Amino acid sequence: MTGFGDTTSPEPSLGRYPATRLRRPRRHAWSRRMVAEASLSPSDLIWPLFVHDGDAAIDIPTMPGVQRLPIGGVVEAARRAVDLGIPAIALFPVTDPALKTDDGREAVREDNLICRTLSAVRDAGLDLGLITDVALDPYTAHGHDGLLDADGYVVNDATVEVLCRQAVNQAKAGCQVVAPSDMMDGRVGLIRAALDAARFEDVLIMSYAAKYASAFYGPFRDAVGSSGALRGDKRTYQMDPANGGEALREVAMDVAEGADWVIVKPGLPYLDVCARVKAALGVPTFAYQVSGEYAMLAMAAAAGALDRRAAVMESLLAFKRGGCDGVWTYFAPEAAGWLASGEG
Ligand code: PBG
Repeated sequence: MTGFGDTTSPEPSLGRYPATRLRRPRRHAWSRRMVAEASLSPSDLIWPLFVHDGDAAIDIPTMPGVQRLPIGGVVEAARRAVDLGIPAIALFPVTDPALKTDDGREAVREDNLICRTLSAVRDAGLDLGLITDVALDPYTAHGHDGLLDADGYVVNDATVEVLCRQAVNQAKAGCQVVAPSDMMDGRVGLIRAALDAARFEDVLIMSYAAKYASAFYGPFRDAVGSSGALRGDKRTYQMDPANGGEALREVAMDVAEGADWVIVKPGLPYLDVCARVKAALGVPTFAYQVSGEYAMLAMAAAAGALDRRAAVMESLLAFKRGGCDGVWTYFAPEAAGWLASGEG
């Protein structure tokens, strides 16, 4: 067996110096190419986009090069994704603070920003996957992914009921993939049942199965405007960064409940988790190279410390080597462009 998850050492009889020289096939670009174990293509990329209810694109200072787009800008980006061979985009709304409430009811309103964006992109008639986030944090005044009890604890089952309605609301507006990112227990099974009951059997569930309580989400929270609002942290529902084995249980439960595809998030600091999940369960596994990872690479490159193209492409290839079927990345259009021009 080769590749991810292989922890056994090769037999020494596989080769001994000097008859065997592992540098021999590394000498030329053509021979390196012939034996490359992993490869990256635009089909591996999922492009996350931020949408806001305004007329102009707005820069995100902690994510240089990424913008909050108006709905029209998302439609343009969707066309660009198709031209670049990127199979799917993921939409994240920047909600007007005036619409945020403790119960996040804007999430289930039929005409909310995400639904209007979905229908605008759907009207463009593109062969493109539309993924939406299922969680309440863009809509709650307290910035948490669910509903709070009197002690400020995120309650599980009542939250899941709202998430089910949110997922159906998004499916009605035309999303083909819902991505629950909330980490409530049991939500995948109940969302699946709610979608099926509403005759959305073909809407996929891509669950954030192993999502960690990570410091690397900071720039994302700036982008969607939830960082100022967030009270406390998300450690009572997102996973403890100390735990790897627990990720296998999270993924196995989500798959048993009907998740089609699973996500490990963040990406590079959790590549061990990606490899273990893929090796243990074999399900389609995606990594999310999150906002903080984007910021590290983009800012280090801007400061002249890294070669942007080389470092970004190496990071993306590492996900493929680690067993991932694909990667959510803010570098998606740039990486697809480099691949198209042969610079990948
Ligand atoms: C919200 C959500 C978050 C991200 C995706 N969905 C932030 C969070 O959990 O606080 C982070 C993505 C990124 O950092 O790029 N449910």
